[in-house]
Amino acid sequence: MTQIISASLEAINRAAAIIKGGGLVGMPTETVYGLAANALDGKAVARIFEAKGRPQFNPLIVHVNDIDAAQEIAHMSEQDKVVAEAFWPGPLTLILRKREDSGLSDLVSAGLPSVAVRVPSHKTARALIAASGVPIAAPSANKSGTLSTTTPAHVAQSLGDEVEMILADGASEVGLESTVLDCTGDNPTILRPGAVTDEKLSEVLGCKVGYDLGNKESGDVKSPGQLLCHYAPATPVRLSVVDVEEGEALLTFGSAQSLGMRSSGEQAIKALPEGSVAHLSLEGDLYEAAANLFSMLHQLDDPAHKAIAVMDVPDYGVGVAINDRLRRAAQF
Ligand code: TXA
Ligand code: MG
Repeated sequence: MTQIISASLEAINRAAAIIKGGGLVGMPTETVYGLAANALDGKAVARIFEAKGRPQFNPLIVHVNDIDAAQEIAHMSEQDKVVAEAFWPGPLTLILRKREDSGLSDLVSAGLPSVAVRVPSHKTARALIAASGVPIAAPSANKSGTLSTTTPAHVAQSLGDEVEMILADGASEVGLESTVLDCTGDNPTILRPGAVTDEKLSEVLGCKVGYDLGNKESGDVKSPGQLLCHYAPATPVRLSVVDVEEGEALLTFGSAQSLGMRSSGEQAIKALPEGSVAHLSLEGDLYEAAANLFSMLHQLDDPAHKAIAVMDVPDYGVGVAINDRLRRAAQF
């Protein structure tokens, strides 16, 4: 099992040396933890796929520190730059046309002519990118098809034997993977919802930004990560519950009043065994719920539970992204 090391300057330099040497590092970002490798090094990128057990057709996000570095690997239109200036650094990934001379390993974009680029805001991620001096390919740091990780301990649990080092810097603030915006067509389209919402994007672009979420069982999807079953715990997930069944764990949102056909919501919750209830946000704050989602699904993902029953989360703002992940988690 690899060591979890707190992100001091020395640790960051050590992690950068591992990246330059072709190794893998668990990297904190503001969205979720990433499984980081040198995006220019085909062998290192291949190790990411092997470690995750990820189908090779699913391309990776390349992390750089600013728009200039993004333009060294991809073409950006004036419109792309407007979006980038508004939301970078931050939880937004742009799908751009890859430059012929990008130097990126072909494996990174799985042979596509496009490449996913993100400029993270997390200070440790930025320091690691700077110290490595290379663009960093990093999918979420979890085994393929399982929950993304938002704490160093979860990274260790999922990929502890696969990474040389986990650079630890607390829990990811946003808690959901970045919004993925496809900028290769005539109109920018959201392929994966996240904390940068359609409303925010539409405002900056001055036009309505729509979704192409795929939601298909297989095959015809723009972003291979859109396969329906994706962010799944091992325990079945039951959505839009109004009551908890015997043996189920419960994930709540907001007040418990809407819960409980047989008994009141509060009583239903009190009656549950310890460790089998978690509250995404008692105040009904969607950002707090997003930040808690994956760690609470991890916490309730236990063979002792027959299923995880989840109360409804409103479908607006970042709630769209939460519901997208919940629907995928519920799919088997
Ligand atoms: O927040 C995040 O984006 C995190 C952190 C570590 O940065 N990373 C992450 O990476 O979630 P990953 O690999 O788990 O998800 C990348 C998503 C996948 O759904 C993938 O299919 C899509 O981006 N993607 C990557 N390159 C693409 C491309 N060229 N065209 C379309 N979709 C692409
Ligand atoms: Mg992922």
